[in-house]
Amino acid sequence: MQTRLQEMKESALGQISQVTDSAQLQDLRVKYLGKKGELTELLRGMGSLSPEERPLVGQLVNEVRGALEAAFTQKQSALDEAVLHAKLASQTIDVTLPGRPVPTGTMHPLSRIIEEIEDIFIGLGFEIAEGPEVEMDHFNFEMLNLPKDHPARDMQDSFYMTDEILLRTHTSPVQARTMLKKQGDTPVKIICPGKVYRRDDDDATHSHQFTQIEGLVVDKGIGMSDLKGTLLTFAKQMFGPTQQVRLRPSFFPFTEPSAEVDLQCFNCGGDGCRVCKQTGWIEILGSGMVHPRVLEMAGYNPQEVSGFAFGMGVERIAMLKYGVEDIRHFYTNDVRFLRQFNRG
Ligand code: DAH
Repeated sequence: MQTRLQEMKESALGQISQVTDSAQLQDLRVKYLGKKGELTELLRGMGSLSPEERPLVGQLVNEVRGALEAAFTQKQSALDEAVLHAKLASQTIDVTLPGRPVPTGTMHPLSRIIEEIEDIFIGLGFEIAEGPEVEMDHFNFEMLNLPKDHPARDMQDSFYMTDEILLRTHTSPVQARTMLKKQGDTPVKIICPGKVYRRDDDDATHSHQFTQIEGLVVDKGIGMSDLKGTLLTFAKQMFGPTQQVRLRPSFFPFTEPSAEVDLQCFNCGGDGCRVCKQTGWIEILGSGMVHPRVLEMAGYNPQEVSGFAFGMGVERIAMLKYGVEDIRHFYTNDVRFLRQFNRG
């Protein structure tokens, strides 16, 4: 009996050491220590032992049981540990991997220029005004001293929806709308950024839709010097403190006198280069003293008040400032183009 116990112990320990997973180990535990297991079977045979042998065998049985239980426990924890290691190894996170980038948009260069210009004029006490892009002929032309048969209408080829409704060809109708709303109140001091439309063939410098910023000041005693001073202040803030402007005589039906405003070329400082076509100056806007007829039609007495107005093309300023050679880049939304304006 003692020999059988010893043999069982040896073979059980041998099998336990071979086991590779918990299920096998559990089977072995049942096989040796279970209710119908081998050790229990052996115990049944104890009845046939002599009274002297019984305590010796009993002690041996306890030893064997203890040894097997210890071996099972040890093996179980070894298996548990192996499972944990395998799990940790398979689930490691490489914290040095670069994160997935979340693409963010950038501010459109035209919006950026508009905001910059708005900030400058707000700093000078101007307010922002708005008007509709689908406009009436009445405001787009008539109220600006351009009656139906006026030849200067040809300067701005228009998209008409009906005889009386069109896509505005400039932001100037907002002048008339603002003055009417003010009902003769002074001062009027507004700028109006917005989209305008002309029946042009698109090319590198023309677009059927583009952006303008209109300006209007009406008050007692406004003169040409106010116009020049305001635009010079704007130019210095926009392009640098040494910036100079130049006024050249021009014609617009809604201003008298009218002037074209040139910037001293910021690329060459006035020496002449490719950007300014060797002239040293770059034309950036149209302006003038508001025509008495325009004041009158909008409810102001030209004997009492006067005003100046100006209109500039935002794309032109953006193209000059950023060196963009084709106006169509602003509208085709190529992210390679737009991303370049993401710096500071
Ligand atoms: N509306 C003119 C244009 O689109 C620009 C302009 C010129 C606006 C003179 C003005 C101005 O307010 O006084 O060509």
